[in-house]
Amino acid sequence: MSVIRSVVRGVGSYLPERLVTNADLAAEVDTSDEWIVQRTGIRERHIAADGQMTSDLGVRAARSALADAGLEASDIDLIVLATSTPDQTFPATAATIQAELGITHGAAFDLQAVCSGFVFALSTADAHLRTGMFKRALVIGAETFSRILDWTDRGTCVLFGDGAGAVVLEGVAAEAAGARGVITSHLRTDGRHRTKLYVDGGPSSTQTVGHLRMEGREVFRHAVGMITDVIEDAFAATGESADTIQWFVPHQANRRIIDASAQKLQIAPGKVVTTVDRHGNTSAAYIKLALDVARKDGRIQDGDLVLLEAMGGGFTWASALVRW
Ligand code: ACO
Repeated sequence: MSVIRSVVRGVGSYLPERLVTNADLAAEVDTSDEWIVQRTGIRERHIAADGQMTSDLGVRAARSALADAGLEASDIDLIVLATSTPDQTFPATAATIQAELGITHGAAFDLQAVCSGFVFALSTADAHLRTGMFKRALVIGAETFSRILDWTDRGTCVLFGDGAGAVVLEGVAAEAAGARGVITSHLRTDGRHRTKLYVDGGPSSTQTVGHLRMEGREVFRHAVGMITDVIEDAFAATGESADTIQWFVPHQANRRIIDASAQKLQIAPGKVVTTVDRHGNTSAAYIKLALDVARKDGRIQDGDLVLLEAMGGGFTWASALVRW
């Protein structure tokens, strides 16, 4: 049986038009631009318009990734959507995106791993492509976290934003793929930490949507150790290292977590892609937004080895190495 690898064909993203700066937030809650920038690195975030749903953002990002790949929607036979803010409890928002794109074959489903969702979704799509069950996948992260924020809680409302990103993966025979493709991925969950970052509602508990709640210091305390451990697993599995990667595209949650993780792993600051200042924490959408920026501004070139990581509610955390 021939070996198949999942190769990145295209990447895209979408941010809603409405921009909310730190100064705008300071007019609503007791905070300041200085506090937010110093603690998180965030300067502004985008917020979805009334009536604009997660699926709308996901469709825009998917179309931009398809255009980048030079493919039609009909070329796609798998959609994996990472989201914690679905349009409805069911059907899966991926089904809505599939229908909006006019795709009537293959499969589409949602995946819920909060901020780690993109790496979980990439790994899931990669596993499906490598079996040959599907040929081309859209891996999408789309979130409207603005809808689950408590806008009176300054400890959380300043951190998040809305947005979407998408990657097109194609299953290619290893001989044709060469060194390209998803090299490895490592996924972790430890549910003992599930009350440190959660939403206080849901269909089977309160029959409401609920609001995001977080013990910020506890998240921070665990983040760097978990992120660096799962990256070291990726290095150990492949023989790659901080020296052999070209780019580190981390979860865009917080500048301090990114800097501390890169420092602990001895990744040179010039290899770190940081876009959190422009969109805040967009949860599952973040990595793809950052990937899109770094691909389109010419930093990520064909053949580059890109290290991805994420950490979020659950706790979940994950890493992946992708040869572009
Ligand atoms: N503006 C001004 N003051 C604030 C704000 C705000 N927006 N939020 C909290 N404060 C105050 C607090 O009330 C507290 O005041 P007090 O000392 O008078 O009680 C003070 O600032 C310090 O509060 P801490 O929570 O201890 O602040 P900390 O330095 O830990 O920073 C932060 C808070 C930024 C949330 C930090 O804990 C953090 O980054 N945690 C990680 C959170 C994260 O990234 N979550 C994303 C999801 S998980 C992930 O993606 C990795």
